[in-house]
Amino acid sequence: MKNGLALFLGVFATLALSWAGLLLTAHRQLGSLSQFKDPVDDVLHPQPLSGLADQGRLVYQDLGCVTCHTQQVRQEGSGGDLARKWGERGSYARDYIRDTTVFIGQSRIGPDLRNVGARTYADADFFYSILYAPQSKAPGTNMPAHTFLFDVHPVAGRQPSAHALTLPSKFAPGAGLEVVPTRRAEALVAYLLGLKDTYDYPIERSRNTPAEKPKEGGH
Ligand code: HEC
Repeated sequence: MKNGLALFLGVFATLALSWAGLLLTAHRQLGSLSQFKDPVDDVLHPQPLSGLADQGRLVYQDLGCVTCHTQQVRQEGSGGDLARKWGERGSYARDYIRDTTVFIGQSRIGPDLRNVGARTYADADFFYSILYAPQSKAPGTNMPAHTFLFDVHPVAGRQPSAHALTLPSKFAPGAGLEVVPTRRAEALVAYLLGLKDTYDYPIERSRNTPAEKPKEGGH
């Protein structure tokens, strides 16, 4: 082929430029984001996860919760997430800088979990119950039970565990038995409790406010 080298260089340059463009642009926009210090109380946001919650992040990843749950509240004007009360505000890129793997997800068989730790009903007991017996909290749901995250012990002959789940009798394992979260369940629940992007960054707010619609009939 007469122009083989030129053709090769052309294809190489096109691929190399688009690859660099995709990576470098993304890096310029997102890679330089850092924590923001609140000017009033000097607290840095987003705050890092606790050690236990960070282990729970790995459990969340292992168990594939991302197949049914997203972690992104869409901005006003791009979906009804705020009306569903999945967050007080849409998610910003800065919210994710503490995450080494971002579980944005793409399928919403269950609700978005980015702010699940900020929901008023969502305390540790609620999370343990929905993991062990989802039907006890959401009858008819297709959220799978994660019973393997719990141990079932006989209570007889020893003190009942302080961490045992309080379950309606229909979901309890039977008389004389108690359900106790394993270390993995505790870490996962610490992670879920830590999922709350409630701080509203002044710089992001102004950047993400939808443009005002032009007034009708104006000249
Ligand atoms: C097969 C899909 C599926 C998988 C996998 C799944 N879930 Fe769910 N999850 C659901 C559905 C559906 C609901 C909604 C229950 C309802 O009707 O309120 C839900 C609800 C929840 C809720 C309650 C949210 C709220 O605001 O009420 C939490 C917390 C939750 N899931 C956590 C998890 C975690 C953690 C994992 C991984 C260990 C997981 N889910 C795996 C489908 C799933």
